[in-house]
Amino acid sequence: MVCVLHVVEDQRRQAAPSEQRGITAMTFVSGQSAFSGPVSQGEIPSAVAEHILEVINVVDEAPNVKTFTFRSVGTAPLTYEAGQFITLELPVCQGPIARVYTLSSTPSRPMSVSVTAKAQGASVGTRWMFENLVRGSVIKARGPSGRFVLGDSGAKRHLFVSAGSGITPTMSMLRWLSDATPDVDVVFINCSRTPEEIIFRRELELLDQQMPNLRLGFIVEKPGSFEGWSGLTGLLDVRKLNVLAPDLMDREVYCCGPVGFMRGVQTVLDGLGFPVSHYHEENFAPIVAEPSDAPAAETSSIAPRVVRFNKSDAETVCAPGETVLSAARRSGVQIVSVCEMGICGTCKVRKTSGDVQMTHAEGISDDEVHAGYILACCAKPVTSVEVEA
Ligand code: FES
Repeated sequence: MVCVLHVVEDQRRQAAPSEQRGITAMTFVSGQSAFSGPVSQGEIPSAVAEHILEVINVVDEAPNVKTFTFRSVGTAPLTYEAGQFITLELPVCQGPIARVYTLSSTPSRPMSVSVTAKAQGASVGTRWMFENLVRGSVIKARGPSGRFVLGDSGAKRHLFVSAGSGITPTMSMLRWLSDATPDVDVVFINCSRTPEEIIFRRELELLDQQMPNLRLGFIVEKPGSFEGWSGLTGLLDVRKLNVLAPDLMDREVYCCGPVGFMRGVQTVLDGLGFPVSHYHEENFAPIVAEPSDAPAAETSSIAPRVVRFNKSDAETVCAPGETVLSAARRSGVQIVSVCEMGICGTCKVRKTSGDVQMTHAEGISDDEVHAGYILACCAKPVTSVEVEA
């Protein structure tokens, strides 16, 4: 069977409607500053920690792709894991907006952090960055967030598969491995439209010389006018995957790219019987509510669910199906939010009593849930609740 994977950048918009993220961007809905909410440092997980970042370098990587490197100003270094993302507040002329960018730098070099962003035609935030951020510019950031990380799986062999600017988290991981365990066995595959659009190509070729067990696989749809292209052409399919990673069944797979691309990779791996527990992807798909087996209850028989916001000394009765975030807005209580899809973790607040039903998209860890935290954007009270906001 040959399964053809189409690298279609626009498919990424299915999960990121307003803008392509560097790779993903998400709309800041409330129209207020994403960083002015009543968030108390030290009482919330680091996923929503606030930082002031100063631009120390801007580098052209490929057509419409730049890397912005920052240092933390007046705060401790921004600590993160390779593969995580941060949220930047961008003061575009319509008002501040929040955009999410994967960190392309490695935590092994903690003096600075970098994001690598691609500006699409309809881009607002990333285009603003391209036109306004220069050395010395200062912006606000929040994070890091994200669970697309190497973790402590103990894997000895990795396969990184990316398309277009989805290369950024896998590049962060490779840079980390290059510093931490340069002998590690990695197959690094990137699919791009043309050779000119391969991001980090020169650095990857340098790493290829420095890491004895690194194998690079560039696949371009069209060699175009590029002289001397000797890499693979066309679209990624199961045959190319087997050529580049014949032992892929023994590898931990990390995949990032447009949603359609990732579904294609997953389909190929499923067809090969690849164990799903060893497959990881950066999934920015919106929340899909789990169907409930419970019969629908009579609305009139449900006791009123009061949401109390302790810090703001405010409370309101929550409508059936209403989220804590929505109730907060009605009450004039500000909870910072970015994606409102259970992804970014920005709206994380501690619940001190009561129960909620919450379906999220990995914006919160099991440990945080056990510690009492909820994502206000997707937590729906099923009893009266109290939250620290
Ligand atoms: S706003 Fe992103 S998880 Fe709630």
